[in-house]
Amino acid sequence: MTSETTTEKCVDIVKCNEKTDQTDIEYYNKAASYWENVTPTIDGMLGGFAQISHIDIEGSSKLLKLLFKDEDGPGKVRALDCGAGIGRITKHLLSKYFQTVDLVEQDEHFLVKAKEYLAGVSSVGNLYCAGLQNFKFPQNTYDVIWFQWVLGHLTDEHLVELLDRCKSALVTRGVIVVKENVTSSGKVEKDEEDSSVTRPPKLLKDLFDKANLYILKEFKQNKFPKDIYQVQMFVLRQKPSA
Ligand SMILES: C[S@@+](CC[C@H](N)C(=O)[O-])C[C@H]1O[C@@H](n2cnc3c(N)ncnc32)[C@H](O)[C@@H]1O
Repeated sequence: MTSETTTEKCVDIVKCNEKTDQTDIEYYNKAASYWENVTPTIDGMLGGFAQISHIDIEGSSKLLKLLFKDEDGPGKVRALDCGAGIGRITKHLLSKYFQTVDLVEQDEHFLVKAKEYLAGVSSVGNLYCAGLQNFKFPQNTYDVIWFQWVLGHLTDEHLVELLDRCKSALVTRGVIVVKENVTSSGKVEKDEEDSSVTRPPKLLKDLFDKANLYILKEFKQNKFPKDIYQVQMFVLRQKPSA
């Protein structure tokens, strides 16, 4: 890892250049090229659906509040926003609840924009520039690890490895949140343009299971337009025996 500090804000972009075995493949390289050419705005992050951002944040906020009410719920010290883009979720959701929020994002131009976009947000911690398939999570650090609209960019195999790896990054009572589009066809649907897939809920659940995670809570995001994919939220924890 190398780090470069800017003068405008005391936040570093920590670059993780190492590519682990079998991650230098067309599936990831094509996605990286796609995102390189996306404008670093909320509309860019949401594929032209900037107008749903506030509904999305409202749904996520409800979920977090529910988790915090639980006596076995996560703490509020540190969260990680995975596939963070320009930091939309960090700014409007995670920074409202956590003392510190780190971001991990593969595209450096989004992180450069994130520094500006999050300039007034004092809780911003580290900005890691890495593909999730290669990211080495800091150990025993996070109360919540948040994955949203990014896991379709990972192959099934790397998704299981990723979820398995990130368990050790959680502190006691920590949880993983996955908020993703799901298909209603029961099939995996491919997007050749951005090199991603949308999975049916059953497959996602099988992959969670393979990563030795169980579903603590599951909710559907309400109030989204009818003509887009259904969005499902999963709160995951390590299986007691694992
Ligand atoms: C649809 S945007 C969502 C951004 C953010 N999660 C949000 O909801 O505002 C997908 C983001 O995932 C990032 N991404 C794609 N593949 C990734 C990978 N393998 N590792 C980390 N980030 C990735 C893209 O660069 C982009 O910023």
